[in-house]
Amino acid sequence: MNNRKPIDTHQLHLQINPAEILDILYQKYGYDFRQYSEAHIKRRLYNRMLMSGIKDVSQMKGRIMNDELFAADLMHELSITVTEMFRDPKFYKSLRENVIPILKTYPFIKIWHAGCSTGEEAYSMAILLKEEGLYDRSTIYATDFNQQALNHAKEGIYPNELIKEYTTNYQLAGGKESFSTYYSSNYGHVIMHQSLKNNIVWANHNLVTDSVFAEVHLILCRNVMIYFDKNLQNKVQNLFHESLVKGGILCLGTKESLRFTDLYDQYLELDKTQRIYKKKY
Ligand SMILES: C[S@@+](CC[C@H](N)C(=O)[O-])C[C@H]1O[C@@H](n2cnc3c(N)ncnc32)[C@H](O)[C@@H]1O
Repeated sequence: MNNRKPIDTHQLHLQINPAEILDILYQKYGYDFRQYSEAHIKRRLYNRMLMSGIKDVSQMKGRIMNDELFAADLMHELSITVTEMFRDPKFYKSLRENVIPILKTYPFIKIWHAGCSTGEEAYSMAILLKEEGLYDRSTIYATDFNQQALNHAKEGIYPNELIKEYTTNYQLAGGKESFSTYYSSNYGHVIMHQSLKNNIVWANHNLVTDSVFAEVHLILCRNVMIYFDKNLQNKVQNLFHESLVKGGILCLGTKESLRFTDLYDQYLELDKTQRIYKKKY
């Protein structure tokens, strides 16, 4: 017979004070989620506690303090690495139509993917640049603070099951070839071609604690700031503004906007729906 008391989920939810737990994660391991949206963090902590059979907050704190692997897994989970090749195909269509002509005016092109997760977004960009004849004069800096995700990105190996969806996205995004020209199949996985990797520089960069990354012509930071609180969003927007050349382009996710930030009047809206902005000065 199982005498263990079931978890009182209602009580558990009420007990969770994200700030306390985030302080421990920061003090002990340097993972800094203290300025992330409280609702997002609370939801994730709650799910993790239920999945791990953790009954109350003091048990959760003890586990984080004493179990480095548990803390690393929690960090991975809080950072949300969901992504896709050619995610939001209409966005890539707009990039092709509205941004590529601007990039064509530069003799060399520097692009920063901030929060690149497992790399799909950077490979999509590499494909787009190749098809537009710009790849050879481009450098793509793809950064994330999640080293596990970055290691995956560098390998460029993805499960076969995802390829059907990625192919559809690629076609809807205005792809000019067959998507299969960009990878080789290997035992249930695909491996992105080396020619796409040559001009991608992968690097660990934390948008909360690290400074300007490089002077670039285009920044993509999509589906990252949605998890940040207002202050952190403003801070990171300042970092991007400093990193962009005059006339440089900033791309956000479809649920993100510059509209309510301090920098809104520093940009022109190139595509309102797809959240593509051009730096004025
Ligand atoms: C939901 S994914 C978005 C991936 C991709 N940009 C896309 O739109 O498909 C969010 C990524 O942002 C990264 N991230 C979150 N906070 C970050 C920070 N402070 N510094 C750098 N990357 C961060 C996460 O590790 C994760 O890989």
